[in-house]
Amino acid sequence: MPANLIDGKEYATRLRVGIAKEVERLKKLHDLKPGLAVLLVGNDPASEIYVRNKGIHTKEAGMESLEFRLPAETPEKELLAKIDDLNKDPNVNGILVQLPIPSHMSQQRVIETILPEKDVDGLHPINVGYLVSGLDGFVPCTPKGATMLIKNSIKDLTGKNAVIIGRSNLVGKPMAQLLLKEHCTVTICHSRTDNLQKVCLSADILVAAVGRPEMVKADWIKPGSVVIDVGVNRIPAPEKGEGKNKLVGDVEFEKAREIADAITPVPGGVGPMTIACLLLNTLHAFCVQNGFEKPDIRV
Ligand code: GUN
Repeated sequence: MPANLIDGKEYATRLRVGIAKEVERLKKLHDLKPGLAVLLVGNDPASEIYVRNKGIHTKEAGMESLEFRLPAETPEKELLAKIDDLNKDPNVNGILVQLPIPSHMSQQRVIETILPEKDVDGLHPINVGYLVSGLDGFVPCTPKGATMLIKNSIKDLTGKNAVIIGRSNLVGKPMAQLLLKEHCTVTICHSRTDNLQKVCLSADILVAAVGRPEMVKADWIKPGSVVIDVGVNRIPAPEKGEGKNKLVGDVEFEKAREIADAITPVPGGVGPMTIACLLLNTLHAFCVQNGFEKPDIRV
């Protein structure tokens, strides 16, 4: 029997509706609304799409959306000065610099220039430290959203074997911390892991975040497991017509869904959760910065 589809799009919509209601309530009470600033340096086509979507959903949630587009050749100090201005702006509660940034800039310096309390991406070392210490701080949006989907599929994660393929700061490492917090036994795999297939076959929860189209094969998947595909890869699709492309994940989806108990599709799985969690982080930033109680949004 094919696996249950984990509908991230539907879950994310419900989360965004809950956020929008809370934004509306706070606006009526305090005549204030959350503000999110997104900075894009250069014109990477995938980043352009992500930034546009973030802007659309931010406004739809009733928040203020500020977008700053800087040319690829912008000197690093100009970007840092812009971030400094946004740090000081009381109408801006969250700041996100879309990654990747051009190679003449230091990604770490850029991240560390954002005030930790406005770092809705959860990448500042202070927030990373909070996460590793099991304390409250901002958590990167993609692993936060993926964890929500996993918890919606498996009520109690205690003792489950979770295997994560990918060790990035944006997904793999925070994902491991979040699953550890849920009492999973966590293994992080990467390009130098010996016998990756064998490790994956031990996974009750398998998270693929490598950025390699359909690398995870059906015979890597433990029957009855939950598979979370974080990959978004654009590949040629000649069956759709000459020069056409399609999006696929890191997992060989059609075959894998015959083995797993539940699986996220690409698109429509983890992707929509990333933006919803960015809005949730921005709402939390707004509440903390204004001394309002942190809302409890249930989906
Ligand atoms: N590029 C791809 N995903 C992300 C993300 O979650 N945050 C930022 N800042 N850049 C990204």
